[in-house]
Amino acid sequence: MYVCFCRGITDGDIRNAISKGASDFNDVREELGVGTQCGKCARLANEVISDVLDGSSADSNGLFYNVA
Ligand code: FES
Repeated sequence: MYVCFCRGITDGDIRNAISKGASDFNDVREELGVGTQCGKCARLANEVISDVLDGSSADSNGLFYNVA
């Protein structure tokens, strides 16, 4: 699912960044640029990061944005 529409970043991109060593939102932002334009994705990005770091499975089927 897309987490950041401005930068075209998915939850998979965030998971990959964490697997490469990113350990918090700041690391992921530096690696991917998530949240660096409008900033509306920051909350969701933090949720995905927390889910990955906690080892729980984020709901990858859920849509967090309406795409009409
Ligand atoms: S949706 Fe991520 S910076 Fe705008």
